Amino acid sequence: MPIVIGGIIVIIVILVTSWINSRNRQSLRSLAEPYELAIGSAVTGWQLSDQNYSSLLLEEFNLITPENAMKFGPLSPAPGQYDFTEADAIVAFADKNNLVVRGHTLVWTNQLPQWLSDGAYTQSETREILRNHILTVVGRYRGKVQYWDVVNEALANDGSIASNNFWMEHIGPDYIALAFEWAHEADPDALLFYNESYAEGKGEKADGVISLAQSLIARGVPIHGIGMEMHTGLGWSPNPQEVAHNMQRISTLGLDVQITEMDVRIEQPVTLDELNQQARVYAEILRVCLKATNCSAFSVWGLTDANSWIPSVYPGTGSALIFDEIMQPKPAYEAMIKVLQER
Ligand code: G3I
Repeated sequence: MPIVIGGIIVIIVILVTSWINSRNRQSLRSLAEPYELAIGSAVTGWQLSDQNYSSLLLEEFNLITPENAMKFGPLSPAPGQYDFTEADAIVAFADKNNLVVRGHTLVWTNQLPQWLSDGAYTQSETREILRNHILTVVGRYRGKVQYWDVVNEALANDGSIASNNFWMEHIGPDYIALAFEWAHEADPDALLFYNESYAEGKGEKADGVISLAQSLIARGVPIHGIGMEMHTGLGWSPNPQEVAHNMQRISTLGLDVQITEMDVRIEQPVTLDELNQQARVYAEILRVCLKATNCSAFSVWGLTDANSWIPSVYPGTGSALIFDEIMQPKPAYEAMIKVLQER
């Protein structure tokens, strides 16, 4: 009998110890809390129903961005019709788990529904379609989506407003300001971002982001932040000092800045040394964000390498995220933990 009791006691001690360890285990989100920095990941609705996926997500992240579910095409399969199923599931998951949501994205020239891109609508019809879309989508999630990528990737590499853009062609340059105004009308409390890729370091495109923001602010357009997507690769990631300078320029405009879609792709097959180099890139950019006065969120563009868009778009590259295909932490994850512990 004493042996049985002894065995039960040992089991209880082991269970309690592992519970305490799991509670105290440092995670990205827990270590980032004192910095008031949200740590995020892109998600898709069906992944959230996977127990292993959702527990890792909730352990490490407190912000989620629908990777595709809130884009025009996935949301609106026919004129005036909406399928909110996946977007609602993501917002409900965030609500239940007290996560912040970045709505992505209201206005982009990619992933438009065919009825719109082939629709041959007039300028005023297109403007009305966009206005209704923004009021419908932002209105639906009023108070549930804290940040919106209102306009995504509107600039050309030289920093000018891209002409090869559906909205530019069908409404004109005013589409950007109008989109922000309609989003603000639909949810005055949501923080409205302009989100851009490959404009994180020094260059014409980064200057273009600043000029665009300045012109919107000068016109009294409600814009609150700039998203730096941070899609990078080993050997060509932006200089951290240049990123810090751009964050400072954004701060002088009174705007927030967020790393919104970070991934660091590597040519396959990957070596341990390359994973360690990748870790240094993640650590450098996280450190820049922590040191900036206006960097409020740091998001990766997918939870694990199995969920990344990279291999399908850039065949022969991959391993771009901080957890591997079987959800194990990579050197990049460990490096980010270390940076967060540097306080
Ligand atoms: O859902 C359909 C499916 O029904 C269909 O069978 C399949 C094959 O045609 O396509 C599926 O849609 C794909 C969608 O991802 C969901 O998987 C689209 O074709 C594909 O183009 C789309 O790619 C997304 C891409 O944006 C679209 O441009 C990627 O997942 C997404 O990671 C990527 O994310 C963008 C950000 O929104 C903006 N910043 C750049 C970033 C990378 O391009």
